[in-house]
Amino acid sequence: MSFSAMPKVELHLHLEGGAPPAFVRGMAKEKSIDISGIFNEDGSYAYRDFWHFLEVYEAATSVLTSPEDFARLTTAVLEKSAAHGVVYCETFLSPDFCGGRDVGAWREYLAAIKEAADKAEAQNGITLRGIVTPIRHFGPEKAKETALCAAETAGDWVVGFGIAGDEKAGEPGDFAYAFDMAREAGLDLTAHAGEWRGPESITNALNDLRVSRIGHGVRSIEDPALVDRLAEEKVVLEVCPGSNVFLGVYPSLAAHPIERLREAGVIVTVSTDDPPFFHTTMTREYNDLAETFGWDDDAFRALARASLDAAFCDADTKARVAKRLETS
Ligand code: ADE
Ligand code: ZN
Repeated sequence: MSFSAMPKVELHLHLEGGAPPAFVRGMAKEKSIDISGIFNEDGSYAYRDFWHFLEVYEAATSVLTSPEDFARLTTAVLEKSAAHGVVYCETFLSPDFCGGRDVGAWREYLAAIKEAADKAEAQNGITLRGIVTPIRHFGPEKAKETALCAAETAGDWVVGFGIAGDEKAGEPGDFAYAFDMAREAGLDLTAHAGEWRGPESITNALNDLRVSRIGHGVRSIEDPALVDRLAEEKVVLEVCPGSNVFLGVYPSLAAHPIERLREAGVIVTVSTDDPPFFHTTMTREYNDLAETFGWDDDAFRALARASLDAAFCDADTKARVAKRLETS
């Protein structure tokens, strides 16, 4: 079976980060917003480094101003993901970008996103669930407002709470109140850590936010005791190899620690993060892992099952998706 047809589970995808540049350009044109400065001559997103990427990401997102815009984005992103064999996906959603953290507005954005996701499920067989996500560099007070949005809409579809943005802004513990609120609302938890800061950022996220998954977490490799802890406590890493290489966390996939982490018994999953920004797709991630580390079909089947086990959705949804994985 070709890698593109193989059924896949993706746990780490930023919805706005999945916006194709042409989609963003089209929406900017409709609204007469000039964001031409965020594109290269070839039409791709233009940025110098991770921090500039965050600025360009926010500029691209600024053209999305209504629930209908987010519905169209959801349709575009899921069409692409389904074409690469993704059958189940969890996406980060930020009330910061969807109604400015107002609970009433957030409900409207969420309803539009869910409706688009339901249509994509009926048409393309891809199931989407949401992880509500404050932006770290917007600060802990805004994260509390975001947690309220998450708590008010927690349920079958909003299944998790996370944190993205500039990992160098503040400490995980600054966001403990927001994470406590989300946990009390029954949400499963994840946090970006160990991408731009070292192993201690992962330890702090585990201890202070009590998350069960870590976004990236790859720099745990710098601390063997932490690697042992991750394996022992079955902490799941949402690894995004293409993102890490494109942004320069590692110089090449061969230098990336995903294989060493896997060999050490850490549960690793594979995602694209912000695919058009990093010129990647799930198929490309699979091809590159096969080429660089010799992963075969059995390894990818085990990866998909482990990823589904680590998903935040309910047991019925998992059982339904598991059937899609079995029939491959
Ligand atoms: N927002 C979008 N992509 C991100 C990443 N890789 N790390 C942190 N925040 C992000
Ligand atoms: Zn991310």
